[in-house]
Amino acid sequence: MKSRQKRMWGGRFTGDTDALVQTFGASVEVDRRMALEDIDGSIAHASMLMAQGILTEEEHTSIRAGLESIRKDILAGEFAWDVEFEDVHMNIEHELTKRIGPLGGKLHTARSRNDQVATDLRLWLRGAGRQIGVELRTVRVTLVDLAEAHMGVIMPGYTHLQVAQPILLSHHLMAYYAMFCRDADRLSQTLARMNYSPLGAGALAGTGFNIDRHATADQLEFEGVILNSMDAVSDRDFVLDFLSFCSITMIHLSRLSEELILWSSQEFGFVTLPDSHTTGSSIMPQKKNPDMCELIRGKTGRVCGSLMALLMTMKGLPLTYNKDMQEDKEGVFDAADTVQTSLRIYSSMLAGIEVHADRMRAAAGAAFSNATDLADYLARKGLPFREAHDVVGRLVAICLKEGVPLESLPVGRMQEVSALIESDVMDCLDLDAVVNARNSFGGTAANEVERQIGLAREELKVEAH
Ligand code: ARG
Repeated sequence: MKSRQKRMWGGRFTGDTDALVQTFGASVEVDRRMALEDIDGSIAHASMLMAQGILTEEEHTSIRAGLESIRKDILAGEFAWDVEFEDVHMNIEHELTKRIGPLGGKLHTARSRNDQVATDLRLWLRGAGRQIGVELRTVRVTLVDLAEAHMGVIMPGYTHLQVAQPILLSHHLMAYYAMFCRDADRLSQTLARMNYSPLGAGALAGTGFNIDRHATADQLEFEGVILNSMDAVSDRDFVLDFLSFCSITMIHLSRLSEELILWSSQEFGFVTLPDSHTTGSSIMPQKKNPDMCELIRGKTGRVCGSLMALLMTMKGLPLTYNKDMQEDKEGVFDAADTVQTSLRIYSSMLAGIEVHADRMRAAAGAAFSNATDLADYLARKGLPFREAHDVVGRLVAICLKEGVPLESLPVGRMQEVSALIESDVMDCLDLDAVVNARNSFGGTAANEVERQIGLAREELKVEAH
């Protein structure tokens, strides 16, 4: 245990810290992931202190060299982290002092761990968020590629997981594309809102030193500074924003996972997932399990849980910093890792999917998926839609009894139920006709889906520049 002389805040203490209290209070095992951001923040702070005449040039040179040598050791995996120094900030500061002497202690002039940790976490999330944005884009491109490659494949569309109306597989895929576009948008808005510097807020009230917050903000490539010093150190809404983005993205992945699990089952047989992304059973030799889809669906629970956990952590905290807030990192690091890996797995899995167009088409043609079209046919002949609905319902009942689809019922039998039905009725019952009839803006007709794909291609091209 650290004797009280060695602890960085030990001056006013006469007793030692309880060993269990020390480990329980330490966060270094988690927050050391922000080590490089912590060093970047310290370097920006030190150069500002020099520019403001608070550090001399030599002092600054020596502090900077010390920090760079620490960065090198961290990158080489040679830095010895010590829970006795509690967190990433004090580990680095302690090491700096070990390397350059008591001058290391000057780095903390006009700064607090409270503005330091808020700065580090914003920088870390900004970096992680940008990488996630790249993965998200790859998934979006893969979806558009798939939609284009399988253009024309008809499958059942469902409501209540009951066959509803036939749709194009590409339409279904483009629906997910749209969701992931909004996720990408949410991510960039989150990152833009987060990109303001808390550095220089001090512990909570600012500082009497003549600092230049705008200079450190510029050096760290923040968009600007957070105006109110208390706000700067006390809110974690940027973490909540990020976790919301992660949760919603995972929920989209989870729903897609659920569909792929169903579609790859023997009963559906719509798709075969690549061997590379499935596993076997240790007992049943025939099995091929959609593990990645299941795991991503499962991990969604944990990511949403992290959002909930931090919401609850924050809900009763008085301003400004409270140690409770140290709990903000573990969940958000885990969520960022999970989203990033899940997206990566998804782009390779989707690219390797085999589509069974025949099975999809057969399923789309069954279960009276063209019933609405027959009702629309009657409505076009002037019958109020409600009555048309009833006529078709009665025809379906007849078909169910006889075990035939609507299009197999002779026109004469149909006319017994409604005299409005003529021989042209068969044209509207054909599967391709059914799909292409839905040509309202954003509908499943081929030309509408092609429009979506075209717009997506343009959007992706614009983003790339
Ligand atoms: N490890 C702390 C955290 O992550 C850093 C800030 C500590 N500040 C303090 N006043 N104890 O929240």
